[in-house]
This record gives sequence, structure tokens and C-alpha cells, in this order.
Amino acid sequence: MEYTVKSGSPEKQRIGCVVAAVYLPRKLSPAARLLDEASGGAISNLIRRGELEGDLGSTLLLHNLDNTLCDRVLLIGCGKEKEIDVNAYRKINSVMATTLENNGATEVASYLTEIPVKRRDTGWKIRQSIEAIDTALYNFNQLKSDKTPPRRPLRKFVFSVSGRGQLMEGEKAVREGMAIASGIHLAKDLGNLPGNICTPTYLAKQAMRIEQQYPNLAVNILEEEDMEELGMGALLSVSRGSRQPAKLITLEYNNAENPEQKPIVLVGKGVTFDSGGISLKPGASMDEMKFDMCGAASVLGAISAVAEMQLPTHVVGIIPTVENMPDGSASKPGDIVTSMSGQTIEILNTDAEGRLILCDALTYAEKYKPDVCIDIATLTGACIVALGAHPAGLLGNHNPLINDLLGAGKTSGDRCWELPLWDDYQEQLDSNFADMANIGGKGAGTITAACFLSRFTKKYHWAHLDIAGVAWKSGKEKGATGRPVSLLTQYILDRVNDK
Ligand code: BES
Ligand code: MN
Ligand code: ZN
Repeated sequence: MEYTVKSGSPEKQRIGCVVAAVYLPRKLSPAARLLDEASGGAISNLIRRGELEGDLGSTLLLHNLDNTLCDRVLLIGCGKEKEIDVNAYRKINSVMATTLENNGATEVASYLTEIPVKRRDTGWKIRQSIEAIDTALYNFNQLKSDKTPPRRPLRKFVFSVSGRGQLMEGEKAVREGMAIASGIHLAKDLGNLPGNICTPTYLAKQAMRIEQQYPNLAVNILEEEDMEELGMGALLSVSRGSRQPAKLITLEYNNAENPEQKPIVLVGKGVTFDSGGISLKPGASMDEMKFDMCGAASVLGAISAVAEMQLPTHVVGIIPTVENMPDGSASKPGDIVTSMSGQTIEILNTDAEGRLILCDALTYAEKYKPDVCIDIATLTGACIVALGAHPAGLLGNHNPLINDLLGAGKTSGDRCWELPLWDDYQEQLDSNFADMANIGGKGAGTITAACFLSRFTKKYHWAHLDIAGVAWKSGKEKGATGRPVSLLTQYILDRVNDK
């Protein structure tokens, strides 16, 4: 898809389709008004007849308006003009993209950039539009026999800006939006691939493929022998139950002005299939446990977006990746393992495997002397109970980092919500036989999982994102969402811009 930025009047756009906003109640946006005036009131006539009130997400497609150079005009209802927030803006754009696709529009100029959204500039709107368009047009057909693309795909998309002075900002936003959208796209593809294709070895190969694209990105893969030497007994205990060898992938992107700048470290859970191990999961929906590597996918997506934007920063991605299976040598409930940190862990439930691979990766992260470290994991079903599918769960040991992530969530629309990481919960991890148990018993499962991780992150500022509820959708729309690539890249962009 080709995205460009232009300034100019909507009635003068010589293009297949022009998109403009209508607000509640029956209020035309500036672009809709110009089209209306050019066409001698054609739009206001239709609206007076009740064809479009302006409710959020409603649409009206018009053909061949008089005195306009476009073939069609797509009007989008946006709700009340003063009430448009991040969520509504995203919704408006995804409705636009789906409607355009369903109607075979191939060349489009959008004036949705003039919609007022509190505290958001044109660049933000362009980035959000590109994400929404890419999401609406996303289609995972690489494993279907019929891979024919749509007959009339959207090819050319022009963002209108209010003046020539905004062209530069707009073009920068287009580059950023495309980089982020392609990071999201990558995360979705990796998430959607089945466990028999997307194995730890496959993820390692993908990291090496990304490395080829950027000179300032270095990838390193640790094999099981290397992890053995480092004493990663917790991580290795999980992969012992599988015939697929574990990998520890690191990606280091350094384009900081000061190459000594301490990195932002992202650690992503990469369980390419979570059967539960000996504590086997029930059969229903077990296929969805192929998505248990979505944390890893979001790290790959975010790092490739950052590298594509060539941001002047230092980011390290660490991906512990394994398959959790009940083989003959799998861990058994009651087994005790020693983590890289030296702390011993009693494995009371082999299905609480995410924290076992993360704890060693988090200890390994110390070697990078993180400025901050953020782990991203589909860690607990309890997080879905607590928060549903809207925000990711957020916990951590450093308030400024928590606040930055909450802020980046609001800006990007890829939100997270803090849960308390109070010491009161720590005793739920007490074990009679080891330094700690790997499960916290009844109650607050997301918090006790984070409590477990907190015992391995004392040396740096750390936050944990539990993405169990947001990383994929179930049911008819089953598929990876690419979250939280948008949140992570926004956090990194904010950090680059605040300096
Ligand atoms: N990957 C799962 C968490 C999960 C489950 C995410 C369902 C999304 C949907 C994780 O490895 C797991 O199995 N967690 C257990 C922890 C429990 C044994 C303490 C869970 O949530 O049931
Ligand atoms: Mn599990
Ligand atoms: Zn898991």
C-alpha cells in the first residue's frame, strides 16, 4: 500500500473516493461541508432526509456528486464532535477501512485527519489510521490453498492535512505508522502460525531474518548447552518435556547517540505451545495455546518497528522460547529446580511454566544493565478473569515506569491497567521444600505470578505486562491481535522524544 500526504480541498481531489466525517446530530465536518457546497447541497439534502445522523461507526456512500472530481464520497458518522477519544478515533478508522474494502475502493483520500481528538495532533491521527487500515485488511491465508488476493485491493491512500506546513510532520507520521503497522503485522503472523511450524527454532530463524534487514541490529541465539552452562535450570526444566530444543534469543538494537546509553530491555514469553505439561490442560480450546508465544512475537514486532524507524535509542529484546509438553522426562509436580539466580523453585504445577522460563531470562537480562526492563507474557488465565480483553495487566517495581506505560497505553489506544504488587501477596508462594513454589494458590493469580517474577528483578526497574486477555481473540474472529506492539513502540517513541 502506498500512503502519501497532501493538502487541498476535498472537492478538487481527482481520486476514486474521498472520506469525510459527519458528527452527531447531523453536523458536517469542514470537508463534508465543502463537498456539500460544491454539489449544491446534495449531502445536506440526504442528511435532512435521515440518511445519516452521525452515530459513531455509521456510514453513507455517495456516487458522482456534482462538481466534485472524485467518483465517490464516503461519509463516516463519528458521534458527538467533542466526545471523540482514542477509542472512538480507532473505531472510526477501522469502519472506514472495512467499508472501503467491502466496496472495492482502490484509491482514497481521507479527511478524517481533521476530526478533533483531545491532545492528539495530525501525526498521531495518521499513525492510528495506518494501524487501523492494516488491521482491517489483515488476512492470514498463508496456510490455505486459495491465496487469491482481493480483486480490488486498496492501493493508494492519501492523508489530507490542513496546510503545506503540515506535510513534513505528516510524512514522518506515515513512515512511523507504516513501521509500527508492519511490526504489528509480524506479531500477528507469528502468533497465528501453528505450533508445528512456529517452534522455538522457527522463532530463532525469524530473529535472524530480521537481523539481516538492519545493520545496527545484532541477534544471538543461545542453545540448551549454553543455557546449561549459565545455570538456567528453571527454563530448561520446561523444555525437557518436549522434543523441540529450547532457544534463548537476544536481539540488540543500538542506534543511540551515546552508544553507552543503558538499554530498554524487553523480555517476551515464547512458549510456542503450552499443553500444560504433566499438569495437562483440559482439551477445550487447547489449540489456542499456540498463542502462548505472543509476548515473544510482540518483542520481535516492536524491535523491528524501532529498527525500521531507525530511532536513536538502545533496545534489547530477550526471548526465552520453549514448548511445554508432557514427555517422559518432563517435570513432575513436586520437582525442585535451581534457577540461574540460585533460588530454588518447587514446581507444584507444570502449567505455570511461563514464569519458569521468564525468571531465568530476567536474571540473564542483568548483564545488559537495563535502564528499564519490561516483560511481556500471556502469563495467567486469571488476568482474563480480572480485566477481560481490554487492557493488559500491568505490575512492576518502579512507579515512573508504570506511569510511562499507562501513558503510552492511553496514547496508542493499546491500554494497560495496574494491579497491586503488594508484599502481602508474597507469602502465597511459600514452599515447605524450596525457596518458593511456582504457584500461589487460590486468589490473585495474576498478582502472585508477578510476585514470583519480582524475586528475579530486584536489580533494575522492571514492569510486567500480562497480555493473556489481549494477545488474541477467540471465537469466530480467532486470531492474534498484535498487541502490545503498539504500546511498546509508543513507550519507546515517548522515551526518545522526552530526552
Ligand atoms: N499460558 C497460560 C496462561 C493462559 C491461559 C493465557 C489461558 C491465556 C488463556 C499459562 O502458562 C498458564 O497455564 N497459567 C496457569 C497458571 C496456574 C497453573 C497457576 C493458569 O492461568 O491457569
Ligand atoms: Mn501454562
Ligand atoms: Zn503458558
